[in-house]
Amino acid sequence: MKTFLKAAVVLALVVFVAMQFIHRPDRTNPSEDPSLTLTSRITVPEDVRAMLDRACADCHSNRTRWPWYSAVAPVSWLVADDVEEGREHLNFSEWGAYSRKRQASRMEMIATVVDKGEMPMKSYLLVHPDAELSEADKDLLCSWAEDQSDSLMNSVE
Ligand code: HEC
Repeated sequence: MKTFLKAAVVLALVVFVAMQFIHRPDRTNPSEDPSLTLTSRITVPEDVRAMLDRACADCHSNRTRWPWYSAVAPVSWLVADDVEEGREHLNFSEWGAYSRKRQASRMEMIATVVDKGEMPMKSYLLVHPDAELSEADKDLLCSWAEDQSDSLMNSVE
């Protein structure tokens, strides 16, 4: 039994080490064009900006802060996937490249997912408790995003 356990531990270690070499996701942030960022296009109140920075920007901008454990497989694979997919859906660094209509629908979507508690992602909150949004935070963020969506919609036609 003891030898079996030893063998199992050694095998697990070998697999873990091998995983570090199989696939190393790219953790360099794409550069940000300052003329396209959300804050260069819209005046964002300070409290809302701080919320977006602390709870959303890691996955929805090109300013991802990559923690040390995001270098270690298999966590690195999961984190890199979330960041890649998050940026595809909504990227505050590329806001200015979106059409008005898309900006309006993204604002509407922000209000929806925050209200439903779908964002920030649960897995993210586990390791970033500071990203938790209080009820008051959520109310503020949702009503801001809805106002933005309305005024963008009104300026589409
Ligand atoms: C850990 C990474 C992560 C964080 C943090 C995060 N998101 Fe996301 N977000 C994603 C991913 C991945 C998707 C795409 C998959 C999905 O919809 O679940 C997404 C999708 C979205 C969408 C698009 C939904 C749709 O169906 O089109 C919106 C809007 C959004 N997030 C807003 C936010 C807001 C607002 C915050 C902060 C309060 C936030 N997210 C925090 C990863 C993240």
